Amino acid sequence: MAASSIIPPAADSAAHPAIELREISLAFDEKRVLEAISFDVPRGATSVLMGVSGSGKSVLLKVMLGLIKPDSGEVLIEGENITPKSEVELYAFRRRMGIVFQEGALFDSLSVYENVSYRLREDGKLEEDAIEQRVRQVLGFVELEDAIYKMPAELSGGMRRRVAIARAIISHPPIMLYDSPTAGLDPVTAHTIDSLIAKMRDVEHATSIVVTQRIQDALMLSGFVYSTDIQGLRPLTEKDGHHAAEATQFLVLKDAGVYFRGNRQEILTAKDPYLRGFVK
Ligand SMILES: Nc1ncnc2c1ncn2[C@@H]1O[C@H](COP(=O)(O)OP(=O)(O)O)[C@@H](O)[C@H]1O
Ligand SMILES: [Mg+2]
Repeated sequence: MAASSIIPPAADSAAHPAIELREISLAFDEKRVLEAISFDVPRGATSVLMGVSGSGKSVLLKVMLGLIKPDSGEVLIEGENITPKSEVELYAFRRRMGIVFQEGALFDSLSVYENVSYRLREDGKLEEDAIEQRVRQVLGFVELEDAIYKMPAELSGGMRRRVAIARAIISHPPIMLYDSPTAGLDPVTAHTIDSLIAKMRDVEHATSIVVTQRIQDALMLSGFVYSTDIQGLRPLTEKDGHHAAEATQFLVLKDAGVYFRGNRQEILTAKDPYLRGFVK
């Protein structure tokens, strides 16, 4: 298994949270989008980020990636403060984070092979043989080996998202950010994407942040486990002990702040009418 693993084990085991946000504030012109946002993203588990359209979810992911600098506050990646770092210094950190952008955002004029290998080619460190081997490995992970020479236009919506995931995991990132990965998909296809997110968590032990409007995604990720036997999701049981699925945290953004942070049970039983709106 080690040879085919997507993510190599971390050198320093679990000393720091994967991501820590400390008092992050950001405004665009006069509009405050994030106001003193603080929370940790523990290693190996999933954090589900919810909030209505325009509540700052995508902006927050971009702040975590260092693509947008906050007006104040700090972002720590695996214990290191990235906020003062230059573009060049940030490059190394971004290799540790895979991002699946909203709508997948593939390059339409490039084949699946070229899309998925893009980052490796940009690095310029690997020979073409090694690149191809790696591309086939990650396409195997998302069960799309046969699409390697297809163009994005030839793929269904669900297949495009899977290619976007393959592209994001090409550089072995221990942290995965997914921006609305199931938006616009039918429920069956959405389920296959949730299953892949769980597979990254349960097989590769990736830390995941999943932005979603769909409570179904959150309930899948917190109540189900990826099984290599059935190559799909099965319900979490007591026998699983303290499984990463159980550690899923739910975050709801509202009015530029964290309106709610808690676990599955807490959000499902919340009496607050605003939260009920998300859960029903
Ligand atoms: N680059 C930008 N310049 C100005 N305003 C922006 C920019 N990016 C996002 N915004 C604004 O920030 C707010 C949050 O956006 P976003 O994070 O995309 O919301 P969502 O929760 O839907 O992902 C919105 O009001 C949006 O218009
Ligand atoms: Mg968004």
